[in-house]
Amino acid sequence: MIRLAILGSTGSVGQQALDVVRELPDEFEVVALAAGGNAGLLHAQASEFAPSALFARPGHDADALRAATSAEWQPLEAMVIREDVDLVLVATSGLAALPATIAALRAGKPVAIANKETLVVGGPAVRAALDAGRGLGGELRPVDSEHSAIWQCLWGEAPDSVERLTLTASGGAFRDYEPSELEAVTAAQALAHPTWKMGPKITIDSATLFNKGLEAIEARWLFDVPLDRVEILQHRESVVHSMVTFRDGSVKAQLGEPDMRLPIQVALTYPHRGAAKPAPALDLARRGSLTFGSVDAERFPALGIALEAGRREDTSAAAISGADESAVAHFLAGRIRFTEIGRLLAQALDAHEPQRTGDLEALLAAEAWGRRFVDSRVAAGVR
Ligand SMILES: NC(=O)c1ccc[n+]([C@@H]2O[C@H](COP(=O)([O-])OP(=O)(O)OC[C@H]3O[C@@H](n4cnc5c(N)ncnc54)[C@H](OP(=O)(O)O)[C@@H]3O)[C@@H](O)[C@H]2O)c1
Repeated sequence: MIRLAILGSTGSVGQQALDVVRELPDEFEVVALAAGGNAGLLHAQASEFAPSALFARPGHDADALRAATSAEWQPLEAMVIREDVDLVLVATSGLAALPATIAALRAGKPVAIANKETLVVGGPAVRAALDAGRGLGGELRPVDSEHSAIWQCLWGEAPDSVERLTLTASGGAFRDYEPSELEAVTAAQALAHPTWKMGPKITIDSATLFNKGLEAIEARWLFDVPLDRVEILQHRESVVHSMVTFRDGSVKAQLGEPDMRLPIQVALTYPHRGAAKPAPALDLARRGSLTFGSVDAERFPALGIALEAGRREDTSAAAISGADESAVAHFLAGRIRFTEIGRLLAQALDAHEPQRTGDLEALLAAEAWGRRFVDSRVAAGVR
């Protein structure tokens, strides 16, 4: 039995992780669940899985659950280092679980990580925690489908045999739109992803392609490969989840129907393959063809901005990540246009005064600066 802590159990990834657990009841025991504001769903999950520890953000429903449960009420950092936790799944949004991720790795816990912002903002600090806890059992297992694919391609391969990582990109909701059409698109249109069902922030980031930039930076920290050896390839069908090119010219890819439950299961059952088939079977004869092409960087400037910030290897990626959190929230609230997200990110990258440091406080300060920068621009109507 693997004893699991799931941070963000009420979100898109968290709920799918519980689906995986339901299919493999002899392999997993849920010992800790943490949510943000959806204490109602957390309550239902607690009734089903009877965890020993719980957390939700304070509020009416959370207070009621806390009063009703016999489970220990613990902040995320304390929850992940519990003795009875064997594996932590980080499926929260934003930076809610950055300190807990660092605490878990330092304590020698394996961490399956879906959350991007933790690595994009805190990459140097997370890697330092991984180095500190590795001897105790600390490891990072990717959950994002692209990184899971690369991870699986790398199993059994020597690190110095890797030439290039290729992240595939569906192209998001607006892959067939002309640049002029993008000015008027709505949040509802941007939220209609062509191949994946995900939470709102990542879906908007997929529509701007900023998400692919975040993924490239995430790959840099997960696999310790410089950003100039990570390339992006448009692949509309999201069947080839990503690829690795080796120094002898061999290319390995991992394929599957687009369904997050498979990479989640791979991360939870590693180093074994789980007995359940959580995603629909891939039928290539029925699919007939798969298509590939280059990404239109002009139509999607947010991608280039993210990559430029990542290449600098300083606080720029943190600042841009914060700026994007804020810009996406303003877009979802109807305060700015879709195309203004990219413009605000470009302004934030220009205005940021970077520091070359891996210090967590400096990285978090840069992230907070990015949010404030965008908030002030939007409030002033300058964008
Ligand atoms: N969805 C996908 O298919 C997918 C794929 C690859 C990577 N990712 C990455 O995985 C992460 C999660 O994505 P998602 O789509 O699952 O997001 P989501 O649906 O928005 O879920 C976010 C989760 O985080 C919880 N949360 C927010 N603030 C919290 C706090 N302060 N303390 C504890 N929990 C908190 C939310 O709780 P409440 O709902 O209770 O507020 C919810 O459970 C993101 O970084 C995303 O980029 C997602």
